[in-house]
Amino acid sequence: MGVGGRSLKTRRRTIATVFGLTAFVAVTVAGILIHDTYVIPPHANATCPFPVKAGANESQCLQVGCIWAPRSDAPSCYFPSASSHGYTISDAFPDAGAEGGDGGTEGGGRGKKDAEAGKTSEGITKYTLKLKPSSAQVVENMKETLQAEVIEYADHLFRIKVTVPGEQRYEVPVPLDLPAPSSPPSPLYKVSLEQSGNFIIKVTRNDTNKVIFDTSIGGFTYAEQFLQVSTGLPSNNLYGLGEHAHESFRHDLAYKTWPMFARDQPPGSAGENLYGVHPMYVVVEEDGSSHAVLWLNSNAMEAETMPLPGLTLRSIGGIIDLFFFLGPSPEQVVAQYTSVIGRPFLPPYWSLGFQLCRYGYNSLENLTSAVSRTRRHGIPQDVQYADIDHMDRRLDFTYDKENFAGLPEYIRQVKSDGLRFIIILDPAINAELPAGEYPVHEAGIANDVYITWPEGQAPDENFGAGDVMLGYVWPDNRTAFPDFFREKTKEWWKEQIVDFHKILEFDGLWIDMNEPANFGTNLDKPWNWPEGQDPWSLKCPENKWDSPPYPTMMIRVGDNQSKKISDHTICMSGNQTDGTKTYLHYDVHSLYGLTETIATYNGLTEVFPNKRPVVLSRSTFPGSGKYAVHWLGDNAADWKQMHMSIIGMFDFNMFGLPMVGADVCGFFNEPDLEMCARWMQVGAFYPFSRNHNTMGTADQDPGIWPEVGEISREVLTLRYKYLPFLYSLFHKSHMHGNSVIRPLLNEFPADVPARDVDDQFLWGSGLMVAPVITQGATSREVYFPQGLWYDLVYAKLVATGPTTQTVSAPLEIIPVYVRGGYILPYQVPALNTVESRKNPFGLTVALDELMIALGEIFWDDGEALEHVMSESYMSKLAYYQEELTMTVMHGQDVVAGINLETIDILGFPKDAQRISVNGADITSSSWQYDADARLLSIYISVPLADDLNIKIYYDNGL
Ligand code: NOJ
Repeated sequence: MGVGGRSLKTRRRTIATVFGLTAFVAVTVAGILIHDTYVIPPHANATCPFPVKAGANESQCLQVGCIWAPRSDAPSCYFPSASSHGYTISDAFPDAGAEGGDGGTEGGGRGKKDAEAGKTSEGITKYTLKLKPSSAQVVENMKETLQAEVIEYADHLFRIKVTVPGEQRYEVPVPLDLPAPSSPPSPLYKVSLEQSGNFIIKVTRNDTNKVIFDTSIGGFTYAEQFLQVSTGLPSNNLYGLGEHAHESFRHDLAYKTWPMFARDQPPGSAGENLYGVHPMYVVVEEDGSSHAVLWLNSNAMEAETMPLPGLTLRSIGGIIDLFFFLGPSPEQVVAQYTSVIGRPFLPPYWSLGFQLCRYGYNSLENLTSAVSRTRRHGIPQDVQYADIDHMDRRLDFTYDKENFAGLPEYIRQVKSDGLRFIIILDPAINAELPAGEYPVHEAGIANDVYITWPEGQAPDENFGAGDVMLGYVWPDNRTAFPDFFREKTKEWWKEQIVDFHKILEFDGLWIDMNEPANFGTNLDKPWNWPEGQDPWSLKCPENKWDSPPYPTMMIRVGDNQSKKISDHTICMSGNQTDGTKTYLHYDVHSLYGLTETIATYNGLTEVFPNKRPVVLSRSTFPGSGKYAVHWLGDNAADWKQMHMSIIGMFDFNMFGLPMVGADVCGFFNEPDLEMCARWMQVGAFYPFSRNHNTMGTADQDPGIWPEVGEISREVLTLRYKYLPFLYSLFHKSHMHGNSVIRPLLNEFPADVPARDVDDQFLWGSGLMVAPVITQGATSREVYFPQGLWYDLVYAKLVATGPTTQTVSAPLEIIPVYVRGGYILPYQVPALNTVESRKNPFGLTVALDELMIALGEIFWDDGEALEHVMSESYMSKLAYYQEELTMTVMHGQDVVAGINLETIDILGFPKDAQRISVNGADITSSSWQYDADARLLSIYISVPLADDLNIKIYYDNGL
């Protein structure tokens, strides 16, 4: 397949496009050899997505200045290379050849370079860029002059920010935690800009000399409503970008375009943009070093992969603001990322318990039956939910006094049994009830809390709502949408939460539909519009915000009926304000969930002073992890979706939101016994473990089938046993930014097969889950990376990795392994965490080849806000040379009365002859050795609050 005859001219233009990633790209004059395939320029360049309509033809492509190069297995229209398209550095250094091997000017350097640039302060280097006249004019209003800044913060962190001088463009108003710019002492990176004066960003990792970012493939474009950066990638191992339903964790690089814009969209397989937005990616380089790039932008975006390998990022507003996190380990990347966007919150201990929900209990009786069924089967449960069917006419801050009569009393009763209760809130507020019927809205109007039309642009008939933008969601009236940027809105929302808590004593809040969702936008009427009423829907006007020149891939995938970016939501020309600035909804749409999350979090801290709030949010943005739990939305009872839930957890752990899980047993459709049993097993290892389904489907709580009930009891009991380990991982994540759920590659980045494993996952470093997610399967292949792996339940060594083994897993079994070298704290489980927290502790000590193991326990009262930042409630565990030590660093008050009673040492070579605890021998009846399993179990009773030293003497044959 060659370049079409007519493209000879363009071919000449692009022939010089050489992507300089050294180790794996061989350059020829005619093309680039990538993984045994010749990629002929311009196929090595960024694709040109113009004109917007699918099936663009040659003349349309050439018309905008792009290159037509048809090929059956790739797009046909490409940007010219950076030598003709994009920007020049107008104030480039006079003697650019003075620095660096390629003669590049270096923004990552200091001293001399700063002086040369003549416009820098410490850690900041600025450049003026001019649009090349030869640039493809893909959209109107291409920016003639830009300012690029390379801002350095630390050895592992820098930023490239490109703005338009003299223009106040929208910038994401989410606070970041950044150190002051400064020239780092030993940067892991070098940023270079090309000698010729073409504005080409090249980032090299210093220690391997690998180029990890290179925009020479063309496509640096900056227009009023179209911004694009395209880069070659140093390997095919691309992860991240969200929120989407990814079918594999590692990205498919065959020109797959993923839109990003918050949307009420269930996960499907069309590649739609889902509820939240996370414009960050991670690349694991060939040697395992990893880096991440965040484009901080909240406008509608998309990311397109390229087989080069490469990636194009596009946005239709804001500025180009790229943050680079150099790792080098994947875990360091997550920690560095969360240090900037905000560390994940520490969930209260109870929220790690099992949770039960459904849309469509429809009555308190049905809800209580589900709770009783669960208890009858001995299935642990900590949280019960009420969905919108508990509300009076779907009105926030009300409950249905007929079908849910007695709900306040019931909540109080289950709470006295140790359960917690979470209720749902939607942002859309009924705006059309007669005066006196809905004080929530009346207070909303009085306080001016809603998103409005721009001045003078409200529809002529606005149903008495003034300039408030009306839509239609669940209530059977038109609704208004609170603007959570406004101080008054936050206050009003807080008051509603506080007041309603006096009626229903909920423990946490579930904020749904906060993209924000609106039904039927731009259509005749919403799907649920009341029968018999004149059809109506929110219709967005024709303007550059509601119909932008490049509406992104989101209008072409899935179910975008109106083919507008406002489909399923409110109009982009809507106005929001924080009191000082007015924002277009076009710019801040994807921040709706985050702003509502913060307002809700603050409302809950008012209700529960000094307690950690639980806010479960559907829409998220970088920074949401500081406050929110997230579930992966309206999935379906489907085996593929069960698999995708693992990938979703990986994504959100990367996005700094580790408290995540999917609707167990599926939201839409009905699971059969086998599927629900398998899903309960994998869901028992989601950080956020909740069974939930939709209206009109059969009940699927685990007690419905006796067999699923039994399987769920076993697997959730195992979860509850290891909750102290999970909780300690969350504390670590909160303090240091680590992930909680990990793909294998986070622990084994240089292990090539591990980079593709997305049907197994780790809790931290030490526990690996290999669920069965295939219908009918009673065994599965498990990949064991390097090290010793013990079966967690049978406490027996099963594999010395790296190896792949087929393991037996009949329906009642989920394979779970402990990794040699790790100590997992546990507690005797119970039916809920109130009870389990009173029980004795134990330790599972899994020895590695050198008979060493490490671990830690974080323990506090499980809910106080003031403990959150404290390291002082931590115990360090170490097993080394037959000695187990526990160094307690926490206050005794929170652990008083709890004992450490069992220690299981996995992989112990021989029976012990003598064991001393804190210097005094214990009797031989206090330990037991299973020679077959090589398991030494020690039974003691020492307060958890005390330091501990256990010494094991055995005949080592020396
Ligand atoms: C959509 C949510 O995603 C789902 O979980 C919930 O049950 C329904 N809204 C009804 O509130």
